[in-house]
Amino acid sequence: MLRYFTAGESHGEALVAFLSGVPAGLKIDQAFVDRELWRRQQGYGRGGRMKIERDTAHILSGVRHGSTIGSPISLQLENRDWKNWQESLPVGDGDPARHKRVASPRPGHADLAGALKYNLPEARYILERASARESAARVAVGAIAKLFLRELGIDVLSHVVATGSVTLPGEVSWESIRALYDRDEVLLNCADAEVEQLMKDDVDKVLKTGDSLGGVFEVVAHNVPPGLGTYAQWDERLDGLLAAAVMSLQAVKAVEIGSGVAAAFMSGSRVHDEIGYTAKSGFTSFSRTHNNAGGVEGGISNGEEIRVRGYLKPISTLRRPLQSVDFSTREPVKAAYERSDVCVVPAAGVAAEAMVALTLARCALEKFGGDSMTETVRNFNGYLQQLKTY
Ligand SMILES: Cc1cc2nc3c(=O)[nH]c(=O)nc-3n(C[C@H](O)[C@H](O)[C@H](O)COP(=O)(O)O)c2cc1C
Repeated sequence: MLRYFTAGESHGEALVAFLSGVPAGLKIDQAFVDRELWRRQQGYGRGGRMKIERDTAHILSGVRHGSTIGSPISLQLENRDWKNWQESLPVGDGDPARHKRVASPRPGHADLAGALKYNLPEARYILERASARESAARVAVGAIAKLFLRELGIDVLSHVVATGSVTLPGEVSWESIRALYDRDEVLLNCADAEVEQLMKDDVDKVLKTGDSLGGVFEVVAHNVPPGLGTYAQWDERLDGLLAAAVMSLQAVKAVEIGSGVAAAFMSGSRVHDEIGYTAKSGFTSFSRTHNNAGGVEGGISNGEEIRVRGYLKPISTLRRPLQSVDFSTREPVKAAYERSDVCVVPAAGVAAEAMVALTLARCALEKFGGDSMTETVRNFNGYLQQLKTY
């Protein structure tokens, strides 16, 4: 079973991630893993921290001579900023005078709910773990899941559909999303240059006014065969697993599969993807007129591209802070401000790619099994053959 965990605080010494259940014999391309980490750090509207950090995954176990060996993989991402925080966040007792309190909780962040839950007098330790810095660890293990999926011919990427009030209409092709991935400079990861410029203008506006923006990203999983996930039990449905995986990302407040939201307001005859049978198709000879289902029917992948959208609320740390209350005096004050991103939709898309890849890798391993890549790929190819002759 593919399982993963992360540990580490935003300004602690390092993030750590564990990934267990990867078959032996998977080649690990370190440059690919680090490029995924770089992609998560990009995007117009990020805070200053992204400039001081260039993440790299230091693999500690489970990989030898460049390939997985079937043992749990553990890896570490150093926090370059740790040197500035050692005295404020020591593991030992340290000097309480050096502590950096978060004196007033930010509406929309985990500060108040977390401080109440963990019975802490202020929010420093809350934001340290609630922060999306954690998503870097997910991206690192997600990159390994992507390398696994590539061996089955599956690719997972994302693009930005909306930021604030600017939306890109229509469906974006896999080829355009792939072209975005090849860029060495990431602005808003939008497939349309004019719309991307409007998005940038929107971010500029909030940068000036001390406000923030949310938006929508879409993750696309390309070349996924029919048959991953099942309706047999509620917690084995692929749509449910994808929704939970993407929703678990910081600031994602809604998840949509295919045209799920619009479909609720349209008649069935316009929504459902009519079925045909042609000689030229992919995994099977069945074809569809469109892909409103987003590649999942009955909790099972149906052979079309899987399309999952994540809706992000605006960042809650505002340079012009909202009203809050001082933790110690209970007097009204402005919410705390600490260097922050103002728009993170492209980066959230990259983190969501990792979550989708980990979900698909888990479902693929459940279906095809295998303790070595040779065994997994053999089982996979046998299944593809079965589909061809269906
Ligand atoms: C890639 C990424 C970067 C983020 N950066 C920030 C940030 O700089 N400042 C901030 O207040 N929130 C940031 N967030 C959002 C918070 O982490 C999130 O709102 C907070 O943990 C509370 O969780 P919730 O929004 O899911 O309720 C970021 C989210 C993502 C996905």
